[in-house]
Amino acid sequence: MNSELNRSRELIGVYSTQQTVDGDGVEIQRIVTQQAYEQFDPFLMLDEFKGGFDGQQTRGFPEHPHRGFETVTYMLDGAIEHRDHLGNVGRLVSGGVQWMTAGRGVLHSELPIAEQNYFHGFQIWVNLPASEKMTEPKYREFGPEEIPTLNLANGNCIKVIAGTATHEEHSATGPVKDVATQPDYWDVNMLGATEMSLPISSSKRVLMYVYEGSIDIKLKGAASTIDSQQMVVLSPGESLEVTANEVSRFLVLTAEPINEPVVSWGPFVMNTREEIKQAINDYNHGVLV
Ligand code: FE2
Repeated sequence: MNSELNRSRELIGVYSTQQTVDGDGVEIQRIVTQQAYEQFDPFLMLDEFKGGFDGQQTRGFPEHPHRGFETVTYMLDGAIEHRDHLGNVGRLVSGGVQWMTAGRGVLHSELPIAEQNYFHGFQIWVNLPASEKMTEPKYREFGPEEIPTLNLANGNCIKVIAGTATHEEHSATGPVKDVATQPDYWDVNMLGATEMSLPISSSKRVLMYVYEGSIDIKLKGAASTIDSQQMVVLSPGESLEVTANEVSRFLVLTAEPINEPVVSWGPFVMNTREEIKQAINDYNHGVLV
């Protein structure tokens, strides 16, 4: 065992969301990671999005392009319909996940549907290594019944979208596989003021985003509180003890860092300025996809 991995995890950073509006009037709580990308590599952005509640008017995200990375959408409540230039049509409902590898280019829309005209969920942007930035686009969708749940003590549970979570003799493996950066993506639900040991590999740096309630994590014996709409970045290290102060829900993200330069412009994320200029030029000339 590497002695590095026996150490307590260290707090690398705590980030609060910025409130913004994107698409056609969609409320976003956003964490853009590029100010300190080496801490987050390969995660580029996390959005918690909400639309259509309380009679709010929104048309979601009308047609727009992407190149050079993956967009991952996890729906908590409500629904949206995805359509892209490849002819994929998907209805993403509560508890479902869409994993879209934009690669060389995708043009798509994400719009509310008439019967369920509201939505609340997350979109994360996961970078691709240079060798896969211009790969053929790929669209994958998983319904809520395909996302396994690992049940822990006290009614706490982990929904596993990607990676494997193990507790005692039980484990759950998410349906998302064959992703360049080998991510774990979990949705952890704690039912009240309880404790749990998060079963995450000690070799992995961990990102946690709290979207409901608040949790304490023990680091070197001292507790740090993470409130709703905050993200924490933790170094690799030994087991992670989490205490919920109330009903609390949070996302856990890990992945292999890519360690390559990032140059981005809006929906394009490449390695160099020249590649960004090319993407803009391709889009303007109708040859992005
Ligand atoms: Fe998009």
